[in-house]
Amino acid sequence: MLLGRNQFGDPGDKGRTLTREEANTLLDAWVLNDRLKLHMKQVAALMRNWALEREGLGEEGAWAWEMAGLLHDADWDQWPDQHCKKIVEELEARHVDPEIIHAIASHGPAHFGVEPESRMDKMLYTFDELSGLIHAYSLMRPEGYAGMEPKGIKKRLKDKAFAANVSRDDIQDGMQRSGTDLEILLPFIIQHQSAVS
Ligand SMILES: [Fe+2]
Repeated sequence: MLLGRNQFGDPGDKGRTLTREEANTLLDAWVLNDRLKLHMKQVAALMRNWALEREGLGEEGAWAWEMAGLLHDADWDQWPDQHCKKIVEELEARHVDPEIIHAIASHGPAHFGVEPESRMDKMLYTFDELSGLIHAYSLMRPEGYAGMEPKGIKKRLKDKAFAANVSRDDIQDGMQRSGTDLEILLPFIIQHQSAVS
């Protein structure tokens, strides 16, 4: 749903996060679908490792990125008609850093009407759909992630019938906005996503 605003959270809450335990408790309570939960954990791992390896952030910053990934679809399972609004309001009520809430609010600009602005926003948007497509690809390979190559993923990206619900336009748009490309992203995702189960 369109969120109808661009400001999220309270600037006074800058630097505040949930603890890992609190975030996992929220995830378990809200997301009953194991496949969706896995998707969120995979995106969380990508965000964390990208923050550490590519953005030069430390543990605290990396946890903020990871938390955005971990909770970005938290309301999709039980409240699809309130998708994004409900989790945004929940995190605002819990006084979470506005940057994390903005990243979640802007992870689908075409759906929520919020433009990705920060590095965190843009990478969450970029990883989301691509992560889903690569996971779908791993499920159809007898070897799963083992031996997976970017070449195979590129073929699936071109095949519009494969994982047809994954928006190729969003992937392109995300890469353009974040200044990344498949050469960088595909090996990175294969490496870090395969470790999450
Ligand atoms: Fe997602």
